[in-house]
Amino acid sequence: MGKENVIVALDIGTSKITTLIGDVDESGLLHIVGFGEAVSKGIEKGIVVKPNDVISAIRKSVDEAENIAGSKISGVIANVSGYHIECRNDTERIEFDTNQKVITQMDISQLIEKVSSKIQPQKENLEVIHIIPKKYILDDEDEVIDPIGLVASKIEGKFHIVLDRINAYTNLKKVIESSGLRVVDFVANPIASATAVLFPEEKEMGIAVLDIGAGTTDIAVYKDGSIEFIKSLPVGGNQVTMDIAHRFKVSKEEAENLKIDYGVAIPEASQGDIIEVYQRGSDEPIHIDQAELIDTIEARLSEIFELTKKTLDELGYAGKINGGIVLTGGVANTPYIKELAESIFNMDVRVGKPKEYSGFSDKLMFPQYSTSIGMLHFAKNRISVTNSHPVHNSTGFDIFKVGRSIIDKIKSIF
Ligand SMILES: Nc1ncnc2c1ncn2[C@@H]1O[C@H](COP(=O)(O)OP(=O)(O)OP(=O)(O)O)[C@@H](O)[C@H]1O
Ligand SMILES: [Mg+2]
Repeated sequence: MGKENVIVALDIGTSKITTLIGDVDESGLLHIVGFGEAVSKGIEKGIVVKPNDVISAIRKSVDEAENIAGSKISGVIANVSGYHIECRNDTERIEFDTNQKVITQMDISQLIEKVSSKIQPQKENLEVIHIIPKKYILDDEDEVIDPIGLVASKIEGKFHIVLDRINAYTNLKKVIESSGLRVVDFVANPIASATAVLFPEEKEMGIAVLDIGAGTTDIAVYKDGSIEFIKSLPVGGNQVTMDIAHRFKVSKEEAENLKIDYGVAIPEASQGDIIEVYQRGSDEPIHIDQAELIDTIEARLSEIFELTKKTLDELGYAGKINGGIVLTGGVANTPYIKELAESIFNMDVRVGKPKEYSGFSDKLMFPQYSTSIGMLHFAKNRISVTNSHPVHNSTGFDIFKVGRSIIDKIKSIF
């Protein structure tokens, strides 16, 4: 394992904390060499509610990954999620004195500085998570992805900015640091999951990714090849479980088991099972009809889809995401969820699993690992971009907010 190419993802979710140690080989392929997982405690909908519980769960997950990889971790890439993350799109331009200016990294950095100077994080109580370049337009006409080395008389840059509420961000960073880890960088959950599951053609056509986890539903919309919108709704699989617990008066654990063992998303898929359950505090079993269970699951999942649809419609994406919807996150394992989503969105739907990695694939090829594998891909892509265009500027301003320093930090992870 080459130390300079090691990246560690720490996915702090509502139900689980996953640690993945990834090794990027010379040809840029990602190999997972360490995997650890602990039941998540003390975090709800992307907010730290019991810091000490989060710290011990992080340590458990990291220790397991370290033992498997046979190496110590110090620096990690972590994810931000929850209602407190938000996004903006912005455009900036520079007109050059000459008609044939060769575009350099300095020009790109200047565009990003212009975008960044408008944000005023302190005043707005925000922390900048990403400033992602989407595309550049040269001389008002030519759209390019990588303008460095090309000539133009003017350049316009289009950027996607992701922000987090400063206190939510600081509290998360603090618990990770209190676990003895250094945060190399943060990645927004919706972007991480989308990175793991989307194909380039889907991003071109326009598509929405829904990562439905235990506590949050993370939405990412891509159009014309790049990220357009993200949001994290405070709804997820935990609510499905709690609905079952309330309706049938069973414990949360029993409700979760019922959901996993007998749950499907649409009534047509019912096998007509009669299920024996023990209600809270009772030794006498009762019998419930699988149809009632499915009714409860369908109602809550439909509500999550309706909420997402409303969000997408209000933003005017309805007719623009021709690629349809990709469902991922643990809830995407629900049998027949694709069919339910199709009936609500009236669009093509597929279930997305993480792709383009090797190692632990028997354990990781499920939708609940899209975030952690996507975090590794996101960091890997960023390193290759910054390596191919080293940042040279007098201010030391960094292309992706932390782009330059991330390389140095990642190099010293172990
Ligand atoms: N086979 C299944 N059928 C139905 N639900 C499932 C299945 N497998 C997992 N889930 C649900 O998926 C959820 C966990 O998903 P995931 O691991 O993606 O969440 P998380 O990352 O911990 O949480 P979040 O991202 O919301 O903070 C739980 O609510 C769990 O009940
Ligand atoms: Mg998650």
